[in-house]
Amino acid sequence: MAKKTVADIDVKGKKVLMRCDFNVPLDDNRNITSDDRIVKAMPTIKKILNGGGSLILMSHLGRPKGERDDKYSLAPVAKRLSELLGKKVKFVDDCVGDQAAAKAKALKSGDCMLLENLRFYKEETIKDKAAKEDAQLRQAKDDFAKKLADMADIYVDDAFGTAHRDNASMYTVPMLMKGKPRVIGFLIEKELKFLGDTLKNPGKPFVAILGGAKVSDKIGVIENLIGKVDRIIIGGAMAYTFLKGNGKTIGKSLCEDDFIDKGQELLKQAADADCEVILPVDHHVVRELAPGVQYKTAVGDIDPGFQAVDIGPIAAQTYTEKIRDAKTIVWNGPMGVFEIPPFDTGTKAVAMAVAEATDKGAISIIGGGDSASAVNQLGLEDRISHISTGGGASLEFLEGKTFKCIEILDEK
Ligand code: 3PG
Repeated sequence: MAKKTVADIDVKGKKVLMRCDFNVPLDDNRNITSDDRIVKAMPTIKKILNGGGSLILMSHLGRPKGERDDKYSLAPVAKRLSELLGKKVKFVDDCVGDQAAAKAKALKSGDCMLLENLRFYKEETIKDKAAKEDAQLRQAKDDFAKKLADMADIYVDDAFGTAHRDNASMYTVPMLMKGKPRVIGFLIEKELKFLGDTLKNPGKPFVAILGGAKVSDKIGVIENLIGKVDRIIIGGAMAYTFLKGNGKTIGKSLCEDDFIDKGQELLKQAADADCEVILPVDHHVVRELAPGVQYKTAVGDIDPGFQAVDIGPIAAQTYTEKIRDAKTIVWNGPMGVFEIPPFDTGTKAVAMAVAEATDKGAISIIGGGDSASAVNQLGLEDRISHISTGGGASLEFLEGKTFKCIEILDEK
């Protein structure tokens, strides 16, 4: 059943509490280096403000461990929001308490304010499992959530990137607002549509590209995709857990030894399901990873003392060919140590191949910050069907999991 969106409700004269994922990357001077998540929340924000609602925005940023830490302040986000909206977004330097409540109360139709980082309170991230087993924790989480819930008449969730979390603002707050409208925003609507429709009815060949450091993070995804996709292309450090299991020498490349057997089991499952798994046959390797360091290309085995930092040119070529004829592509995770050029070569080759396949009619979906930033750096974002704002959330979706914080919201 489809969820109600902000387009289905009347917000005029109402106070709207909207959970966003403004967990944006910042540089050392706390400048936002990608405002993608803010820009993508704008359609919902504008719809509410233009509809005569007053808006209380809330989000987390980073993982500040439950106490105030200015490094994680949302103040830069308020500034960027004001620029994008062309009017002042008031910033409240606490997310709960008398000041926040008073400012929320004073909001007029069309006004917008942003609360300070929710994770400055440890209550925000108390897990529901822990809260179930410990009455004190449950009370603390409920009390915190109630302070947020009491500020508003309507709850809107547009934080797709956080949809896999049971944070107080994601789940407890809408639970407490039962009886009031609780809807999704346009960003979540779009994310669910793209990811959901693609998995339900994929054009073939359906190719999954998985990268990043750990196999353990991707086991659920691989298990769910075997049987659905025709090919799984694997890059990044996770490839070496499979290659070691295949009997290759991997030098001092990253490897999760505890997951070698699981990796082999996955390869067997894939073979049984006629799903091709493609691993790199060559690698860029270094003695020590550092910017500007000398590297060489290893074909097959990797010498002791060397570690793989990117897929090699043969692998990049093979991957490009295996992506070229795809009709559906999902991609999560870089092929190498993308943040240290020239070890971004494999990731860039894959990004280019995905864009070219999309030009020819494939549906492409990218999740995860590094893959998305490769695409952005190459200026390819307009040649990708959908760049998800969710890293972990899009992975869990691809694992076939559902999000309880969305499930409880109003249906059409
Ligand atoms: C993300 O960037 O993936 C989301 O904002 C969730 O952040 P978290 O992993 O710290 O919960």
